Amino acid sequence: MTTLFEATGVRKSFSGIRALEDVSLRVEAGERVGLIGPNGAGKTTFFNCVLGMLRPDAGRVLLDGQDIGGLPVHRRARRGIGRTFQRIELFADMTVREHLLLADRIRRGEGSLLRDLFGRGGSDADERRRCDEVLELLGLGDLAADPVEALSLGQGRLVEVGRALMTEPRLLLADEPSSGLDREETDALAATLREVQGDRGFAVLLVEHDVELVASFTERTYVLDFGHLIAEGPTAEVMADKRVRQAYFGDVEVGSGS
Ligand SMILES: Nc1ncnc2c1ncn2[C@@H]1O[C@H](COP(=O)(O)OP(=O)(O)O)[C@@H](O)[C@H]1O
Ligand SMILES: [Mg+2]
Repeated sequence: MTTLFEATGVRKSFSGIRALEDVSLRVEAGERVGLIGPNGAGKTTFFNCVLGMLRPDAGRVLLDGQDIGGLPVHRRARRGIGRTFQRIELFADMTVREHLLLADRIRRGEGSLLRDLFGRGGSDADERRRCDEVLELLGLGDLAADPVEALSLGQGRLVEVGRALMTEPRLLLADEPSSGLDREETDALAATLREVQGDRGFAVLLVEHDVELVASFTERTYVLDFGHLIAEGPTAEVMADKRVRQAYFGDVEVGSGS
């Protein structure tokens, strides 16, 4: 069986700042994998390299064993890579359904943004069917015609997930989906994510600061620290690793005397 996704030796610097150093990571079909690390560790930079928003200085990005490093963003999306953004960028007065339909077009690199924004593009039956399925799956069916400004932050996060699901990804890159949510909203999001992932079976690479969410959702986890991978393995083992606890949780050794 071919590995769904693999990155090997990815490096990226920004004018002298080494954001990623030799990062290698793989995700099998249907697998739930975590990518954690302190602020500034390079997690979002890694996502951007995978998505084609940034070009790595070195290293390869493979999907189905094929090098996709030369493909533009929308062609990677068409091959099955979806994403959610760390900061939600929703248009306040557009409805939930409009967001999903528009996202689908943009990510596929089809249609004209302006034409779609002014509602002249229309949507075909296939798009509407996929949209309704995603809304149903996320429990947003009743809110489909509501402007997103009427939603809670938690519901807004679900719209963001819904936008990514419209392109039927085989690999979903989720960047801090619980950002800004309280415990209860985070738990609700986690439950929905688990249900949707179980239903659709896509693989997830989850960047999260909420350790409970990572622990409950992922099977394996990678840990980035200042651009270096410092640990990887089954999530429970990684979370218990001393180096990880020091880098990520700032644990101080008990009895160290300082
Ligand atoms: N576009 C950019 N230009 C310059 N520096 C950047 C840019 N994007 C990220 N960085 C730097 O790269 C490092 C990693 O950032 P980032 O990938 O956003 O980390 P994380 O998502 O893990 O918090 C940080 O030092 C950040 O300041
Ligand atoms: Mg980030």
